Amino acid sequence: MLTFALSKGRLAEMTMRRFAETGLDCGEMQKPSRKLVFTNEAQQTRFFLAKPSDVPTYVEHGAADLGVAGKDTLLEEQRDLYEVYDFKFGCCKMIVAYAARGGDSPLKDLPSSLRVATKYPDIAANYFHERGVTAEIIKLNGSVELAPLVGLADVIVDITETGSTIKENGLVIFDEIMPLSARLIVNRVSMKLKYERITELIQKLKKKT
Ligand code: PRP
Repeated sequence: MLTFALSKGRLAEMTMRRFAETGLDCGEMQKPSRKLVFTNEAQQTRFFLAKPSDVPTYVEHGAADLGVAGKDTLLEEQRDLYEVYDFKFGCCKMIVAYAARGGDSPLKDLPSSLRVATKYPDIAANYFHERGVTAEIIKLNGSVELAPLVGLADVIVDITETGSTIKENGLVIFDEIMPLSARLIVNRVSMKLKYERITELIQKLKKKT
């Protein structure tokens, strides 16, 4: 049995479509239900959807042999696993942004300290540490763009895809930290024990690129 942990939300549908192209059938997952684990006995596969930030945890611990997660999550989580393939979908950017209020940018001349709201505390802390800025990191779990609008933080570190959330809330991008996309990740032991099936899947994915 080969077990896959997929990220709920934006990446889920694209992942299932891409897997279907390689012959992996996880179609049952697309039907609305509260079921959590989907087994395809004929193909000897099992799929489950997890919160994106939990996918690397399932894979590192071997509860899933493989997973699909955003590079943002992988950089933040720093788990012990193999990252084997870039799907090149789910493309977005990690950015630093602030609320435009007519006055000076809170990042003008890089001040010595800043309040930073983010879902990515390690990435944000590293970014400001490398620039010699003392950052008070405020961890949020969603709608990060709200923080500078209501005075919780001076700036945000977050991902942007279409740019519409930034634009519609009057935020300004100060810096683009890195481009991001969805990656295939593999448990280290599974890579050894299920080497043939896993490499066959990677080859199929590469052929379709
Ligand atoms: C992400 C991100 C931004 C938004 C950007 O949040 O944190 O808030 O998408 O997308 P855009 O550039 O296309 O407007 P997500 O929708 O995943 O959910 P969240 O706000 O609950 O974290």
